[in-house]
Amino acid sequence: MSVAEYFSSMEYGPAPEDDQPARAWLAEHGASFGHFIGGAWCAPSSGERFETRAPASGDVLAHVAQGDAADVAAAVAAARAAQPGWFALGGAARARHLYALARMVQRHSRLFAVLEALDNGKPIRETRDIDIPLVARHFLHHAGWAQLQESEFADWSPLGVIGQIVPWNFPLLMLAWKIAPAIALGNCVVLKPAEYTPLTALLFAELAHRAGLPDGVLNVVTGDGRTGAALVDHPGVDKIAFTGSTEVGRHIRKVTAGSGKSLTLELGGKSPFIVFDDADLDGAVEGVVDAIWFNQGQVCCAGSRLLVQEGIEARFIAKLKQRMATLRVGASLDKGIDIGAIVDPVQLARIEALVEAGRNEGCSIWQAREVALPNAGCFYPPTLITDVAPASTLAQEEIFGPVLVTMSFRTPDEAVALANNSRYGLAASVWSETIGRALDIAPQLACGVVWVNATNLFDAGVGFGGYRESGYGREGGREGVYEYLKPHGWTMPLRAARVVREGGAPASIDGVDRIDRTAKLYIGGKQVRPDNGYSRAVYAPGGEFVGEVSDGSRKDVRDAVAAARNAQKWSQASTHNRAQVLYYLAENLAARADEFARQLARRADVSVNDAREEVDASITRLFSYAAWADKFDGAVHSPPLRGVALAMHEPLGVIGIACPDEAPLLAFVSLVGPALALGNRVVVLPSEACPLMATDFYQIVETSDVPAGALNILTGARSALLPALAKHDDVDALWCFGLADEAALVERESIGNLKRTFVDHGRRLDWFDRSSEGLAFLRQAVQVKNIWIPYGD
Ligand code: NAI
Repeated sequence: MSVAEYFSSMEYGPAPEDDQPARAWLAEHGASFGHFIGGAWCAPSSGERFETRAPASGDVLAHVAQGDAADVAAAVAAARAAQPGWFALGGAARARHLYALARMVQRHSRLFAVLEALDNGKPIRETRDIDIPLVARHFLHHAGWAQLQESEFADWSPLGVIGQIVPWNFPLLMLAWKIAPAIALGNCVVLKPAEYTPLTALLFAELAHRAGLPDGVLNVVTGDGRTGAALVDHPGVDKIAFTGSTEVGRHIRKVTAGSGKSLTLELGGKSPFIVFDDADLDGAVEGVVDAIWFNQGQVCCAGSRLLVQEGIEARFIAKLKQRMATLRVGASLDKGIDIGAIVDPVQLARIEALVEAGRNEGCSIWQAREVALPNAGCFYPPTLITDVAPASTLAQEEIFGPVLVTMSFRTPDEAVALANNSRYGLAASVWSETIGRALDIAPQLACGVVWVNATNLFDAGVGFGGYRESGYGREGGREGVYEYLKPHGWTMPLRAARVVREGGAPASIDGVDRIDRTAKLYIGGKQVRPDNGYSRAVYAPGGEFVGEVSDGSRKDVRDAVAAARNAQKWSQASTHNRAQVLYYLAENLAARADEFARQLARRADVSVNDAREEVDASITRLFSYAAWADKFDGAVHSPPLRGVALAMHEPLGVIGIACPDEAPLLAFVSLVGPALALGNRVVVLPSEACPLMATDFYQIVETSDVPAGALNILTGARSALLPALAKHDDVDALWCFGLADEAALVERESIGNLKRTFVDHGRRLDWFDRSSEGLAFLRQAVQVKNIWIPYGD
């Protein structure tokens, strides 16, 4: 027998991991758990418990508490009580606690790895080599951010109490992603693990307590979606951080609308895995294995859509099938398996139903005959689906199982079009040996993570998160830290003198006509009349008639959004070019500063001196954003894995902006400035009370080389225009500064395309303060795309 024959006929023997230490921990607790609140175990107030099972065998592992509103309230109270003291400890002391947690995870790594594999059904090889080391890395990395908090985030404060809801696919890793940044920066947490996989979170809470984490900093309340809903509803929670299905994420956005709670959502995906004809095909086949059969395909960023260039399709699929035949499916504690169990029969049924739907739509389904499934437990074989139409169920729906759908493309443009033909936008893999091609494709992909010649790479120092309906917010890296902070200035009271409605000294109106001309809308670079042909009178706060503006309608909103959509050139313009245009705006406003000040004084009933101060501040602010336009760069991360990750700042696309009544010119430029500087196209609703400053401003825009459609200005009734913007699916983000109920409306109506919202909840910012400029706004004007590229060896 030759060595080759020997290898091809050799059978695998079982290589079981000992589960006794994990079973002993369960037995120590009588295989029955309460919640972990305020540093102690607490029985559920209802007395209700439910089973958690090992998916690989179906055996009951333990009973855990079903949390209700009373349990959630107790946990929130414990977190609230602990938070001031935890923050007051200071960054360096908190850093030591996080280091202690990292070391605790390393000390108990095998226990965590076995318990996770048992409870989730995933291979021990993965929990041992991927999940648990990454958990430790997260605490270590974020210990560093705690250490640097006072110097790096001096103008920012923690949010307070954070409600975190995690799914079952990476139970402990998601816990780490959520709690490490939150507690590092001085927040306290109530975490709800997924109902299928609560055990490692409970073990973590117990061991963290033993490692000296102060009581109440981390509280774990177990239960199903009802417990999650109670946490979302609790008024004492300052932020909800959620990972899970797009459906539940959307629901959470809706029910938290107007509550003032911050929200980050990490949702589903249907990520493309693109193989060009010049790719290393064998490498790419291994990439597919990691993309879709890692964790049984139960990965939000799984490369679940294989897009192969036509010329190599047949050869690539043949290689892939050959590789699929060698995959081994089996019990999670067998160290020799590739694919473990599906988390629960409910999920298995979901996968089966979706594949069946594909069969009915005419797709071809292939599974290797050589792959045997265990007799008991919850398993699904690796599956390849061909003959898939781009619009079919299987090409569009997240299957969340070991099922790969494949399509082919001819040209790079076609690859991009297919890749972006999805409501999601989480991740993508690009395979090509031509670096120029891969790096040409990466910026064209509408997603938050791109891996070049690699897949499913993660690191605590590299941000992760989606575009479109894959959610918003980032986890990991500096951008993930900001998700748990708020700028100091956002709680400062408004300076009374700036309130437009409060009047002031009678304005000097020398040289100014008492009646303004009728201002038009500004859409697509043109002054246009409103669709309905109506105008609105505008009065100064003292009641004096000061002019008329167009009464824009929903149709005008549609036209303005279409104009903004078509102005992609602004997003593609060089940062140098955008900076120049913003300098030009500032320069042209400066040339007319006296006139703007006199008009502002009359229309807003403020003294000429105050008005002049506002105009000057507006000019300075435009200069600042011109300066930022070519400086708010991304970053290059050096993860301890392979290559580097380019964190690129990309514009969001079309941003709708609703301005407040305070400081009608300064607030307008403070919001439009960062959005334009970073390459977004804008549809802006100026102050309803004092809109004429914005309509005067379009004369500045017209003389400043702003391309048509990059900035569109709509006047009219806010009650008609704002809902139309909020509901429009071609608006990517909506900023609303003004009244609290407008913020609620914006958040509630944003759920259609899950647009990013940035609202002040009626807080009334001081637009003259330096906290109303800079990072807090620039961050909101970009989304970060992390592109992992090979670099060095
Ligand atoms: P899910 O979104 O229902 O569950 C995720 C978490 O949210 C769990 O902790 C759950 O208890 C909690 N939850 C459920 N309803 C809630 C509510 N109304 N309020 C607050 N929390 C709530 O996801 P599920 O049902 O486990 O899986 C269904 C599908 O969702 C999967 O097949 C997959 O397509 C997707 N999914 C995506 C994940 C991701 O990482 N992006 C993770 C898990 C599921």
